[in-house]
Amino acid sequence: MRVLRVISLLPIAGALNSRDEAHNAKRIAIIGAGAGGSSAAYHLAQYATEASIPTNITVFERNSYVGGRTTTVNAWDDPNTSVELGGSIFVEVNHIMVEAAKRFNLSAAEHNVATRLQIPDLGIWNGKEFVIITRADEDTWWDKAKLLWRYGTAPLWTNRLMKSAVGKFLSIYDEPIFPWKSLSDVVEQVGLLEVTGVTGEQYLKANGIGEAFAKEIIQASTRVNYASNLPYIHGLETMVCMATNGAMQIKGGNWQIFANMLDSSGATVHLNTTVARISKQEDGTYVTSTSTGHTATYDEVILAAPLQYSDLVIDPAPEHVPDEIPYTKLFVTLFASPFRLDPKAFNLGADKPVPQYVLTTLPDNEEPQDNVGSPGFFSISILDQGINPHSSTPRPEYIYKIFNHERVTPKILTYILGHDVSDDEAEHGDVNGAVSWIYHKVWYSYPKEYPRVTFEEIKLDEGLWYTSGIESFISTMETSALSGKNVARLIRDEWVAKKADGELGGKSEKAEEVFQEEL
Ligand SMILES: Cc1cc2nc3c(=O)[nH]c(=O)nc-3n(C[C@H](O)[C@H](O)[C@H](O)COP(=O)(O)OP(=O)(O)OC[C@H]3O[C@@H](n4cnc5c(N)ncnc54)[C@H](O)[C@@H]3O)c2cc1C
Ligand SMILES: *[C@@H]1O[C@H](CO)[C@@H](O)[C@H](O)[C@H]1NC(C)=O
Ligand SMILES: *[C@@H]1O[C@H](CO)[C@@H](O)[C@H](O)[C@H]1NC(C)=O
Ligand SMILES: *[C@@H]1O[C@H](CO)[C@@H](O)[C@H](O)[C@H]1NC(C)=O
Ligand SMILES: *[C@@H]1O[C@H](CO)[C@@H](O)[C@H](O)[C@H]1NC(C)=O
Repeated sequence: MRVLRVISLLPIAGALNSRDEAHNAKRIAIIGAGAGGSSAAYHLAQYATEASIPTNITVFERNSYVGGRTTTVNAWDDPNTSVELGGSIFVEVNHIMVEAAKRFNLSAAEHNVATRLQIPDLGIWNGKEFVIITRADEDTWWDKAKLLWRYGTAPLWTNRLMKSAVGKFLSIYDEPIFPWKSLSDVVEQVGLLEVTGVTGEQYLKANGIGEAFAKEIIQASTRVNYASNLPYIHGLETMVCMATNGAMQIKGGNWQIFANMLDSSGATVHLNTTVARISKQEDGTYVTSTSTGHTATYDEVILAAPLQYSDLVIDPAPEHVPDEIPYTKLFVTLFASPFRLDPKAFNLGADKPVPQYVLTTLPDNEEPQDNVGSPGFFSISILDQGINPHSSTPRPEYIYKIFNHERVTPKILTYILGHDVSDDEAEHGDVNGAVSWIYHKVWYSYPKEYPRVTFEEIKLDEGLWYTSGIESFISTMETSALSGKNVARLIRDEWVAKKADGELGGKSEKAEEVFQEEL
């Protein structure tokens, strides 16, 4: 019998008819259709197919759209002019994003605004002056910095330091380290604890990176990417900010990667649907209830959103409850204007154009605090040029993005554009005005990336999984996607182990039933 069963089990999964398949399918609920949840669905569907395990995946998303913190809005409500409101850029070492873009045939956006306008592409502003201005034809920060003899060997050493950290990070993508059950353990195992456990400031100092380079270039990067000065962000996230090779974004919006992942997974996606409660049953399954009162039963639940913002009740409390942690409250303002930034506002001569990307750092005499400091904003960039279709005669305009620590005021807009912007315009835009379109958004964008050496659990309880703990380690679209993939693999491994257990230990009644039916 035992021999028979072992033999018969092998072809059974493939031989299941659709009725049996539906009957035996593992039921998985994924809460959140951002990078983490979409990637979990995509990879779980693949792993399950490879292991011939039938699944029925349901994704719940409270927003009306897929993508979560990765989403676009349309300037002038024109779908041809969409701009990223959240996660904008991924880079060459972001393997999941890059491969998905290829697989789904999504193309990269091209915004060679600086080249087209023949303006410098990047300037670092300290609230008083530009400490550096670079041109578009110099490729990466490293190429740019190489030319800047003022930094000596600091750019070279920073580049090596970054490559070493990225190399260690990439080792968690592959066996034998992947999949990992504990992020805390894996961070230690690959030697990144020393990097996450100290501030960027400490890490750079300990590695002999010159202060000028750290303050002017690296801090500008941590400010634009994580709204943080070097003493308030850990060493690894600081290094992530310097890994900019092959920076790209998807034409029409990065969210399309996640939409395609969900499509390809075959999951049922419920938009506009908040999961209000999940309750563990005696048999180990979970009942989810949506805010409108619909309930359903699942074998596994993946929470793919920060618990603290999910408005979710988990009943009873799971074995591990993720801590509430401080997140950055980031004010993102997108707006369109026919005007370029006023050189006067940046202490430049009238004939000197303001660079496309204005990043910021602090002036020499200012101690970095856990806030934006005297420059008053984190960054202002021109994202694109477009035609305002609603002005009395369609006119070419620039589309800007400001990252700030508070709501952008009419006064600030008036100052940087050098043209009057009324209260109403700063609120709603005026199709023929200095600000023709404006969009204000407040995000809890990412955790404050303070140094830490432990990270939230991935498996909160039997059958309950959490992707968002990775955000305190590195908060990017890629790492959320990686976390979703890791959870998918852990779930698959448990299923496979149980199946093997069933085969060898004779516990698999279902398989036997099916076997007999097949006979
Ligand atoms: C302004 C900004 C700029 C950024 N820039 C970059 C960048 O350039 N590059 C980069 O890689 N990353 C960037 N990031 C970070 C990146 O966007 C995020 O790390 C990533 O998108 C997080 O994905 P996630 O799936 O983990 O979480 P989320 O995208 O937050 O997805 C969670 C989803 O769960 C849903 N949800 C929550 N609770 C419930 C519930 N109870 N029921 C149903 N649904 C629920 C939410 O609506 C949400 O859609 C940026 C973020 C912001 C805000
Ligand atoms: C998946 O489960 C839902 C109920 O949760 C059910 O309505 C649906 O028919 C199932 N789909 C498949 C393919 O089994
Ligand atoms: C979700 O809600 C929005 C507005 O509340 C609506 O426009 C949209 O059609 C809804 N989408 C779905 C899939 O129900
Ligand atoms: C968007 O682009 C399409 C094709 O290029 C064009 O037909 C359409 O008119 C454009 N829409 C607007 C609002 O400009
Ligand atoms: C990929 O996209 C390009 C351009 O968008 C198109 O020409 C090509 O046919 C697409 N290929 C596939 C396999 O879909």
